[in-house]
Amino acid sequence: MHTTVGIVGGGPAGLLLARLLHLAGIDSVVLENRTRAYVEQRQRAGILEQTTVETLRAAGAGERMDREGLVHHGIDLRFDGRSHRIGFPELTGGRSVVLYAQTEVVKDLVALHLAEGGPLLFEAEAHAVDGADTDRPAVRYTHQGREQTLTCDYVVGCDGFHGVVRNAIPEHLRRTYERTYPYSWLGVLADAPPVHDELVYAHSGRGFALASMRSPVVSRCYLQVPDATHLDDWPDGRIWDELDARLAADGSRPLHRGPITARSVLPMRSHVTEPMHWGRVFLAGDAAHIVPPTGAKGLNLAVADVLVLARALTERYATGSAELLDAYSATCLKRVWRAEHFSWFMTTTLHSEVGQSPFDTRLQLSQLDRIATSPHAAAELAHNYVGLPVGLPGESPSR
Ligand code: FAD
Ligand code: PHB
Repeated sequence: MHTTVGIVGGGPAGLLLARLLHLAGIDSVVLENRTRAYVEQRQRAGILEQTTVETLRAAGAGERMDREGLVHHGIDLRFDGRSHRIGFPELTGGRSVVLYAQTEVVKDLVALHLAEGGPLLFEAEAHAVDGADTDRPAVRYTHQGREQTLTCDYVVGCDGFHGVVRNAIPEHLRRTYERTYPYSWLGVLADAPPVHDELVYAHSGRGFALASMRSPVVSRCYLQVPDATHLDDWPDGRIWDELDARLAADGSRPLHRGPITARSVLPMRSHVTEPMHWGRVFLAGDAAHIVPPTGAKGLNLAVADVLVLARALTERYATGSAELLDAYSATCLKRVWRAEHFSWFMTTTLHSEVGQSPFDTRLQLSQLDRIATSPHAAAELAHNYVGLPVGLPGESPSR
């Protein structure tokens, strides 16, 4: 089989890229190694930056998001038994975010692509890319038990952190930058109304907690837990008690409790692979970079990469110029490193390490107090949270 753009991975990055290319008249094939049901149920991100929202709308995938998504104009920061709201529009010139689960973004994009787009093959596992530095790169993959080859003009690795496309960049040219954190998140989904109408991020002596939601009747909450935590050690009652203890602040009320319908333990890491482009191969989303989820950036970075890449491929086929394609890696890495810093900052400011010194705790509380009391410090957080410029040609660089 031959296609113009071979896309490995049918997560948000791969599906959105296929959609944007389809709208630009460029054909693609998406290879996804899991089943449709699996990718549509995988619990992950919840917060969409305004640029992500606008991109999904422009891609024709915004109808249900606009109906069911919850617009959030701020977050609540809790520390030292106090609660402080950071309001976004007033600090960022009118910007805000939308809470709409990644599962729903994926369902909307899969449905659109199957109805209107090119081939989207589930249970198709890519093994390797050959000829990345030629003008006919090829993806070797297995589908329905048969080894197959997809030849392409370009290959894009949207295959997440454990993907294979990144290996097409020769090892001596590839640099990885990594940091692991000495704690994980226990994430739960519960049939219970959210405790608050905006997200609550809590620093506490017992560790970090986050109260998010999926709808007015479904809560999504996270607790900082030690690495290698066993789910068996966390029966429902213990989870609710711990959330209540960590989220407590003057005037706050206990969480609404309900049946917990899903739970998992998630490691926390930061990772960047450079460059994000070599020869005819490009990386986008988690295939190139991972952030700890405290800043709500991962999905949004993936969407921004894809927006830049779709624009560059469109330019390439419209005019023959590869200028934007050649600039892809540098354009994206500038934004990626800013998001890496913000995600690291949110993570290390809000979590407590085992045996953390009282000095380090005082530094965290001082920083949080600065954000709560200084409009300048709050604005810096708000600008990063709602999203910085993507790096498109002609976009205003300052925000
Ligand atoms: P993925 O979603 O990982 O998709 C990669 C796809 O490639 C997968 O479907 C995989 O099956 C497929 N694949 C892998 N290898 C192969 C292969 N060899 N052949 C074929 N297919 C392959 N981000 C935010 O922006 N906001 C948030 O609020 C947020 N919260 C999060 C909360 C949690 C608990 C977690 C875990 C993540 C969160 N993120 C958040 C991060 C976000 O979910 C990811 O950044 C996002 O999924 C990246 O999309 P992607 O398409 O690049 O990668
Ligand atoms: C979520 O709703 O899953 C979520 C929200 C904000 C984060 C991380 C996860 O920072």
